[in-house]
Amino acid sequence: MQDIVILGSGNVASHFAKALKNAGINVKQIFGRNIRSVSALAKQINCSHTINISDIIQNADIYFFIMNDKANLSICDKIKIKPDSILAHTAGSQSIDIFKNKTPNYGVFYPFQTFTKSVETDFSKVPICLEASNQETYLVLEKIARKLNCKTFKINASERETVHLSGVFASNFMNHCVNIAEDILLENNISSDIIKPLLEQSFFKILNNTAANSQTGPAIRNDNLTIEKHKELIKNNKQYSQVYEVLTNSIKSKFKIQ
Ligand SMILES: NC(=O)c1ccc[n+]([C@@H]2O[C@H](COP(=O)([O-])OP(=O)(O)OC[C@H]3O[C@@H](n4cnc5c(N)ncnc54)[C@H](OP(=O)(O)O)[C@@H]3O)[C@@H](O)[C@H]2O)c1
Repeated sequence: MQDIVILGSGNVASHFAKALKNAGINVKQIFGRNIRSVSALAKQINCSHTINISDIIQNADIYFFIMNDKANLSICDKIKIKPDSILAHTAGSQSIDIFKNKTPNYGVFYPFQTFTKSVETDFSKVPICLEASNQETYLVLEKIARKLNCKTFKINASERETVHLSGVFASNFMNHCVNIAEDILLENNISSDIIKPLLEQSFFKILNNTAANSQTGPAIRNDNLTIEKHKELIKNNKQYSQVYEVLTNSIKSKFKIQ
C-alpha cells in the first residue's frame, strides 16, 4: 500500500486516519492548521505532523484533502507534490476538477455518513462514493475502500451532489428537527431524554419499512385543531413557527391532503 498524507484534522480526517491505521495502511503525515488537533491525531496514528504547507511531505503517493471546500482549493494550489501523486477529497458537493491542474491522477472518496470526532464510527459500515480522473486512480481508491471493508459506489459528480442533498435532508435536517424538539422540552423544564424511545422507534420503522409508510402525526391526519394548538404554543418563536409551517405543509402536500 502507498504512503498517505491526510490534510485536515477534523471530524472526517480523524475517523478516516484511524480507520486507515487499523487497516494497516501507512499514514505518513497529518497536516492542518490547528496544532493541538493535528498533533493529537498524529500521536494516535503514530505518524509525523505539520501545520506548515511548505513542510508537507512531497513524495507521498496519495494526499487526502479533508478540510472545507475553500481550504481544499487553496491548499491544493500551494502544495508541492511529485507529478504522479494521487489527490483526492472527501466532499459531497465539491468538484473533482479542483485537482486537474496539479496531477493527472485525482479523485473523490466521499464517505456517505455523518462523522463527529468524539463519537465512535464503524468505518466498515460507511458507503464510499468514488469518482476518479482515470481507471488506475479509481482502482487505487477502490483498493483503499476495500481494505477498510467499505462498500463502494461508482458515482459521478452530479450523482454525488444528489446523494449529498439526500443526506442533508435525511441527516442534517432531521438532526436539526430533533434539536428543536430537545430545546422545546428543555425550555419547558422537561427532560429531553423523554424523546429517546420515540427516536429509536421512528428509526426502527424507517429502517424496516420506508419513511413514506411510517409517517404519522397531525399533518397526515389533517388534524387542524391540533396543528392550531401547536402553532399557538410556539407563536412567540418565529424560527420554530416557520419550521412547523413548512414541514406541515410539506407533509400535507406529499400525501395530497387538502
Ligand atoms: N462531517 C461529516 O459528517 C462529513 C461526511 C462526509 C464528508 N464530509 C466532508 O469531509 C470534509 C471535512 O469535513 P469535517 O466535518 O471533517 O470538517 P471539520 O471537522 O470542520 O474539519 C475540517 C478540518 O479542516 C481544517 N481546516 C479548515 N481550514 C483550513 C485551512 N485553511 N488550512 C488548514 N486546515 C484547515 C480544520 O482545522 P480547524 O480544526 O482549525 O478548524 C479541520 O481540521 C468536508 O469536505 C466535508 O464536506 C464531512
